[in-house]
Amino acid sequence: MKELFNFILSFLVAAILSACGQHPGQKTQAENGQGKPGILEDIKTGEQTENHPDNEEEEKGQEDGNKVAGDISFNFESKTVLLNSGYEMPIYGIGTYSLTGETCVESVTSALDNGVRLIDTAYMYHNEESVGEAVRNSGIPREEIFVITKLYPNQFSNPEAAIEEALEKLDIGYIDMMLLHHPGEGDVKAYLAIEKAIEDGKIRSVGLSNWYVEELEEFLPQINITPALIQNEIHPYYQENDVIPYIHNLGIAVQGWYPLGGRGYTAELLGNEVILQIAAAHGKSSAQVILRWNLQKGVVVIPGSSNPDHIRENTELFDFELTEEEMARINALDRNEKHDWY
Ligand SMILES: NC(=O)c1ccc[n+]([C@@H]2O[C@H](COP(=O)([O-])OP(=O)(O)OC[C@H]3O[C@@H](n4cnc5c(N)ncnc54)[C@H](OP(=O)(O)O)[C@@H]3O)[C@@H](O)[C@H]2O)c1
Repeated sequence: MKELFNFILSFLVAAILSACGQHPGQKTQAENGQGKPGILEDIKTGEQTENHPDNEEEEKGQEDGNKVAGDISFNFESKTVLLNSGYEMPIYGIGTYSLTGETCVESVTSALDNGVRLIDTAYMYHNEESVGEAVRNSGIPREEIFVITKLYPNQFSNPEAAIEEALEKLDIGYIDMMLLHHPGEGDVKAYLAIEKAIEDGKIRSVGLSNWYVEELEEFLPQINITPALIQNEIHPYYQENDVIPYIHNLGIAVQGWYPLGGRGYTAELLGNEVILQIAAAHGKSSAQVILRWNLQKGVVVIPGSSNPDHIRENTELFDFELTEEEMARINALDRNEKHDWY
């Protein structure tokens, strides 16, 4: 009798879970520690998009048994990472710091023409209008392009107005990812305003920039949606080898700024003897080797360039692979040498 009761009970549980779209034994997003489940549900009931988790990629991954929401390992075939927000983001793109006006429009256009689909901008770069113009004029469906912008600390006191300003300047419908550019007074309030804008469908994912372990430990308990991305300085002379695994273990993707060392430092980094030797062994450039090293470490790259040849070169990262020994040789170049103050 007891066995019959147990059988009926387990049948009922399985039927209820199945009706909820969950298999018995499958972990919920919350059990996996991946973000706020309610938010993902909200997104899932929204409009379906080409880079949306409900589409083929996640289903295919789940069939493979190795790629589910929250698995932030890179897919080198699609050249994307599935963020904990449920959206796919390209793993290489173009950074637009110091590119303004026509130079910015032309650089982003050149990147888009070369297959780049990830663009990093910020309020502080004074070029959101130019990025938006290049995206709108590209003829590429909006859903195929991933645009990141950032709120600067001097905007944290009125984040709602700052979000509206970014939406207006970009003029591309919605923002794929909004980051807080730096920690600062009012950062929690600003982050919560971005969470609200996500609920309202104005922004899709949220993240942080220049947040390290200590800052994260203090910040994360105060917010509701786990950041999908953290963008920090990362290059062979400043590798953040403790910080990257810490962030990855939280199910958060990592993106590196100044991948080539940043302006004023690129010549020295690109001329590094070890990098040159590895580049020669693969018939690639120093820049390509450094960008590939980032990708193999699970770091998304957004090199900045206004030179069309460099922009194209920075996309040719998928026809070679660094060996473990080569990775180790580049890892050994770390000098803990920051190239900016933050
Ligand atoms: N969150 C933050 O606080 C923060 C801070 C800094 C930067 N960022 C972001 O990170 C992005 C990348 O940083 P960045 O642009 O300042 O520095 P970077 O990417 O490290 O270096 C850019 C420099 O590298 C040169 N370059 C690019 N590709 C090259 C290639 N293939 N061969 C030789 N030289 C090449 C560029 O010159 P050419 O124009 O001549 O190619 C430019 O002078 C920024 O654009 C921005 O989006 C974020």
